[in-house]
Amino acid sequence: MTNVDSLGKALEQRFRCVRVPPARHVPSLEEDARNGLLSQPRSLPPKYFYDDHGSELFERICKTSEYYPTRTEDFLLQQHAQDIIRSTQPGKIFELGSGSSTKTQHLLDACNEIAHFPSYTAFDISERALLFGWETLSTRYDWLEIDLFLGDYEAGFKNIPRQNGSRLVVFLGSTIGNFEQDRAIGFMNDLRANMSNSDRLLVGFDRVKDEHILNAAYNDKDGITAAFNLNVLNVLNNELGANFDPDKFKHSANYDADKAQVEMHLVSACTHRVTFNTLATSIEIDAGESICTEISRKFTTKSLANLLGQAGFAIEQDFISADGYFSLVLAYPV
Ligand code: SAH
Ligand code: TRP
Repeated sequence: MTNVDSLGKALEQRFRCVRVPPARHVPSLEEDARNGLLSQPRSLPPKYFYDDHGSELFERICKTSEYYPTRTEDFLLQQHAQDIIRSTQPGKIFELGSGSSTKTQHLLDACNEIAHFPSYTAFDISERALLFGWETLSTRYDWLEIDLFLGDYEAGFKNIPRQNGSRLVVFLGSTIGNFEQDRAIGFMNDLRANMSNSDRLLVGFDRVKDEHILNAAYNDKDGITAAFNLNVLNVLNNELGANFDPDKFKHSANYDADKAQVEMHLVSACTHRVTFNTLATSIEIDAGESICTEISRKFTTKSLANLLGQAGFAIEQDFISADGYFSLVLAYPV
């Protein structure tokens, strides 16, 4: 066997990328575009942000000085990873919306330190993010068995193989805040139905705070968040044969204190027509009209407990950052 062959074999054993078939019907981009874009108020589900370029832009958002959630959650994980691993003793760490698994490294470092060696599954809709994460993790942890699940976590968890041994299910980045309350409850209910009593859930919640800090986090001065938001128009152009001109739109992100959420929009600067070849239709977009591309809800101790409670989870520990900006919650299914 040549070196290359043996390397290939070694990689094969430690790395499997599985396409997870949807457990129930999820609307296609065509359907989502028909439902969300052809009538007002216009909107689009946030999962379409994450094509290769979008995933790369998201990585860059995480490094901006304004976007505090990443570094705050990162520090919380660094501080508490050993406690979390000691108390949960997972056979597997199963991460949803893992992106490139950067923060997860604190959990894996803790595993290393206390010589507890679980396997790891990353589940994400972005192949680029999964492969990028795999490259880092496989170099850094020679003991780690890694599975990559490529798919849509909104399509249910029935097709996720159940494993023996307890799992630590990880959902970071306050991505749960990108769902409206009912969908968040539905999503977590689905998740709980796939979990056994000994499994634990580790979930990040961005907390309610001063609106200036929130508005800055979603309006970084270098315009990376704006580029990320606008990139979804390129996704529509590529996938639906649309002819959006990103220069005709402006990124807008504003915190609504009453709803406790940041709302991301693309606002049209002028009245113009956009054609969708694949949908065989076109729409007229007025000046000032906007497409809602994402909400990012912010939580209090009460609202996060309410959400987890309604989804059938109880809080074991709520690790709150010293500045009160972010909660990392360890919960168990009840
Ligand atoms: N956990 C990382 C990334 C958060 S960004 C962090 O905390 O920094 C949200 C991630 O969820 C992205 O990697 C995106 O590709 C993934 N994602 C978004 N919608 C998804 C869906 N419907 N199914 C699976 N993954 C999704
Ligand atoms: N889950 C992240 C959040 O709500 C995603 C995100 C960060 C995002 N910045 C964004 C989504 C800008 C759309 C636009 O914080």
